[in-house]
Amino acid sequence: MIPRLWDFLILLLTTSLATCLLHVQKNEIRTFDSLDGLWTFVREPHNGGDIGIGNQWNTLDLDKFSNATVMPVPSAYNDIGTGSELRDHIGWVWYEKKEFVPLRDRNMRHVLRFASVNYFAVVYVNSEKVTSHTGGHLPFEVDVSSQIKFGAENKFTVAVNNTLSWSTIPQGDFNYQKLAQRNISGRILSRLPDGAVKNVGNFDFFNYAGILRTVQLVKIPSTHIQNINIVADHTGSFFFETAANNLDGIQVEVKMFDGDSNQVYTTNQTKGEGKLENAKLWWPRGMGDPNLYTLEVSLISDGELIDIYRETFGFRTVTWSDSQIFINSKPFYCLGFGMHEDFELIGRGFNQAVMTKDLNLLEWMGGNCYRTTHYPYSEERMFENDRRGIAVIVETPAVGLKGFSKANNNLHIKMLTDMIDRDKNHPSVFAWSLANEPQTAKKESRAYFKTLVDTAHGIDRTRPVTTVYGPTNFDNDETADLMDFICVNRYYGWYIDMGYIPWINQSVYWDISLWRETFHKPIIVTEYGADSIPGLNQEPSVDFSEQYQNEVIQETHHAFDALHKDHTITGEMIWNFADFMTGMTTTRAVGNHKGVFTRSRQAKIAAYTLRNRYLKRFDQTQLEIWD
Ligand SMILES: *[C@@H]1O[C@H](CO)[C@@H](O)[C@H](O)[C@H]1NC(C)=O
Ligand SMILES: *[C@@H]1O[C@H](CO)[C@@H](O)[C@H](O)[C@H]1NC(C)=O
Ligand SMILES: *[C@@H]1O[C@H](CO)[C@@H](O)[C@H](O)[C@H]1NC(C)=O
Ligand SMILES: *[C@@H]1O[C@H](CO)[C@@H](O)[C@H](O)[C@H]1NC(C)=O
Ligand SMILES: *[C@@H]1O[C@H](CO)[C@@H](O)[C@H](O)[C@H]1NC(C)=O
Repeated sequence: MIPRLWDFLILLLTTSLATCLLHVQKNEIRTFDSLDGLWTFVREPHNGGDIGIGNQWNTLDLDKFSNATVMPVPSAYNDIGTGSELRDHIGWVWYEKKEFVPLRDRNMRHVLRFASVNYFAVVYVNSEKVTSHTGGHLPFEVDVSSQIKFGAENKFTVAVNNTLSWSTIPQGDFNYQKLAQRNISGRILSRLPDGAVKNVGNFDFFNYAGILRTVQLVKIPSTHIQNINIVADHTGSFFFETAANNLDGIQVEVKMFDGDSNQVYTTNQTKGEGKLENAKLWWPRGMGDPNLYTLEVSLISDGELIDIYRETFGFRTVTWSDSQIFINSKPFYCLGFGMHEDFELIGRGFNQAVMTKDLNLLEWMGGNCYRTTHYPYSEERMFENDRRGIAVIVETPAVGLKGFSKANNNLHIKMLTDMIDRDKNHPSVFAWSLANEPQTAKKESRAYFKTLVDTAHGIDRTRPVTTVYGPTNFDNDETADLMDFICVNRYYGWYIDMGYIPWINQSVYWDISLWRETFHKPIIVTEYGADSIPGLNQEPSVDFSEQYQNEVIQETHHAFDALHKDHTITGEMIWNFADFMTGMTTTRAVGNHKGVFTRSRQAKIAAYTLRNRYLKRFDQTQLEIWD
């Protein structure tokens, strides 16, 4: 299953290049104003209907409201306040920021860009509605050139509603339950307040909401580059295509540079292909260096540079057999992590210090791989993965799917498309994950997943598509045969057979072997593990102690060793990298404690076990190819 460059090319030409969102760049021509900082913040009452929209709060000065406060951007709002009302809020919150836009920029096109707002956002500029967007974790932007007042103060207003985000893909009635009355066997107990709502999150992490990533007022020239697609493989072959909004009388100049800024290719066409002799390949850590190249695209009019954009990429190929995943034709074994973008106070808000610490710890552990559980991570992180040589499975925000309606499917396809569009040029991305732990024993899930697989393959022939299975087994899953490789989450010793540590090896071994025998696809075990409350020690071990977590992990590793020896698995990922916040349930004590690091990123006992294992296997240059 070698990816065929021409397949990709043909499909590429049929998809619209204009819809893409380029990453934001500052260079000779392009610039931006950051709108990050303290925004005015007003909360509507819990589940209060649509008061702000109904009363046109977009036309008002929110900072004049008596209950207005401030909210840092980027950050989730939930843990910034002092009461549970804000933490547990369901419904609308409003953000407002007033900023001058300099007169000198009036000839630039102004695009307002949000890197992530969770969940539903309505955006206004100077009281006028300019766009709305559904879903967090992916960027959206809108041209606001005609709304901006130059040389004057402008008002940016964002209304954010998290009501539907109880599942990351909404699932209608499953999202939250109205419980004005409790009905037990036909007897109505009206102890609950009128309109009481119970939030039933369909996922095991806290429903952090608000403006989670950076907000920028991007300034680009009126004639500008809109998209760049690059496919470059380990033979040195490459293909690229770029689009601009207007090419009349415009000269295009494209240059490719290696990591030492030597020019290795140039053309004056908007698309091109070629072959680089001795291309330095992008390798994951432990296999080689993560060499990067840059494609520089310039638009020139009458000898004058009018736009320029530089996209980094790597020469590397992902292929797969029926048992292994290969990078540049060499076997790749994932030593990885499930993670979360989660930290104290900021929740899911982007923070450079947390991102850098996490990736430094991942390297210290000897890891080479992770999955963006359970939503696309920040753009900053994707560039760091490229630079550090960390291989990544990028996952759509679809966790615990149980409703397979047409509406869900359409939204899911849009999110998948936007996600691939955002991350397609990152060499670190080696696979797309369509969902985590869907209820794919249901017959109707097959048609639903078929559309997703076809969508991903339709846009990108160069990467395999996978789904992460949890609730299903080898004998009742309706969709696994559609995938290029299979991911499975298994918790023997925790959700299954708690306390029976000696049983883990056999159970994991046989469970995973049966998936492999049934589907004949490569398999990565993407989750296993146990909770441990940091510093809780029990010898002999008891559940929730650090010892118990450590033993579950050690025993599961015995199964992994046997499965790898028998050519059954091609990778393993611990759940989880670090402790993270969840909603309240009887099985969670101030969040999920399956981290090998604490929430403040200190190592638990299990971290050392995992580190020893990963460091021993870190050098992958000698892995053998299985038949
Ligand atoms: C904040 O003030 C506005 C305007 O008076 C009001 O409509 C809204 O309900 C208030 N928010 C809360 C949480 O009470
Ligand atoms: C916004 O929140 C309210 C609850 O306060 C809900 O009734 C409404 O459906 C939500 N609208 C959207 C578009 O999410
Ligand atoms: C209460 O539940 C019973 C079934 O247990 C159902 O027949 C009845 O319609 C319910 N009543 C209300 C008000 O929801
Ligand atoms: C390509 O464009 C550059 C810059 O305008 C120009 O100097 C060069 O002559 C062009 N090359 C060709 C082959 O047209
Ligand atoms: C784990 O189970 C496999 C499969 O039965 C077996 O081959 C292997 O020896 C076991 N490992 C240990 C350490 O018991």
